[in-house]
Amino acid sequence: MRIAISTGGGDAPGLNAVIRAIVLSAHQRGWQTYGIRRGYDGLLTEEGVLMLTPERVRGITHLGGTILGTTNRGNPFRWPMKDAAGQVVEMDRSDELIAAFTASGFDALIAIGGDGSLRIAYDLWRKGLPVVGVPKTIDNDVTGTLASFGFDTAVSIATEAIDRLHSTAESHERVMVVEVMGRYAGWIALHSGISAGADVILIPEIPFDIAKVCDKIRAREASGRHFSIVVVAEGAIAKGGQAVLLERRTAGGVDRLGGICSLVARAIGERTGKETRTLVLGHLQRGGSPTTFDRLLGLRFGVAAVRSVADKAFGVMVGFEPPTIVRTPLQDVVGRPRSVPLESDTLRTARELGINLGD
Ligand code: F6P
Repeated sequence: MRIAISTGGGDAPGLNAVIRAIVLSAHQRGWQTYGIRRGYDGLLTEEGVLMLTPERVRGITHLGGTILGTTNRGNPFRWPMKDAAGQVVEMDRSDELIAAFTASGFDALIAIGGDGSLRIAYDLWRKGLPVVGVPKTIDNDVTGTLASFGFDTAVSIATEAIDRLHSTAESHERVMVVEVMGRYAGWIALHSGISAGADVILIPEIPFDIAKVCDKIRAREASGRHFSIVVVAEGAIAKGGQAVLLERRTAGGVDRLGGICSLVARAIGERTGKETRTLVLGHLQRGGSPTTFDRLLGLRFGVAAVRSVADKAFGVMVGFEPPTIVRTPLQDVVGRPRSVPLESDTLRTARELGINLGD
């Protein structure tokens, strides 16, 4: 049995743990494992594949990033290429990819990815490829799992950053506005904001009214609290507004979110007269070593994915439903991002702690 592994989309701490778990558990069964370089690129370009032996994956569980490399521009169904006129257009190269997969003698693909990469995995499965998906994203927005690895690490980093902002915000009597990642879901903002004692948390699931945010800051002023911490998810939207983009999708890519924190900070400054500062945490949230939780989850996912291959259960994604690991058909996963439920206990907790959610 020869298993191919791909890591596509944005990296997430814990990816190397998944790779190591797949390699070791497949090895125990006498199977071989190969890593496709840079998402799916290795099957379509000279980048190629890498034989993964137990020696090759020794000591990588705690390392951030992915030893295979990744890209969020490597969709084989929408491959960016120049046409005769020199224009960049998108081509469907999925048949070529399947031919390369078959020619390499692979029996199964374990695709580790977020919604975009799992959609590719699902479409490849529909074309006959034996695929098992593993959910990976710091955004925690994949359906079919209570947690994706990388999320816990991102929240820990954001929480520590917000903790650190308190003392400087208080000393200068400022409003600090922190933008965290998460795409169109507010998980990172909500979990880090509550844990670090933010005063305001703005998430995409609850369009915000800037007047309400300013009321909260004024109320704090009136009670002698002359500083405030506002955590904004990158996908947060003002009531009646739209998500703020840094860059529109170009061929082969995706929209890039970012910039909402400057708008929020300026509006707060103008309306309250308070001095404001911004911090965009950005890729710090994805870098470095995974937490214990993400390492263990990654290792469990990797082993469970190999088990799924052994059971010939394809077209599924492994997921975490405590205390166990479950399998969900990819068709029930893709295109259904998991948002923060409005009735969730975590949101209630925020409200009952007096945190303003902008509504
Ligand atoms: O999906 C993970 C994520 O980090 C999002 O939170 C963020 O919007 C995006 O990827 C950033 O992607 P890039 O690596 O292209 O900047």
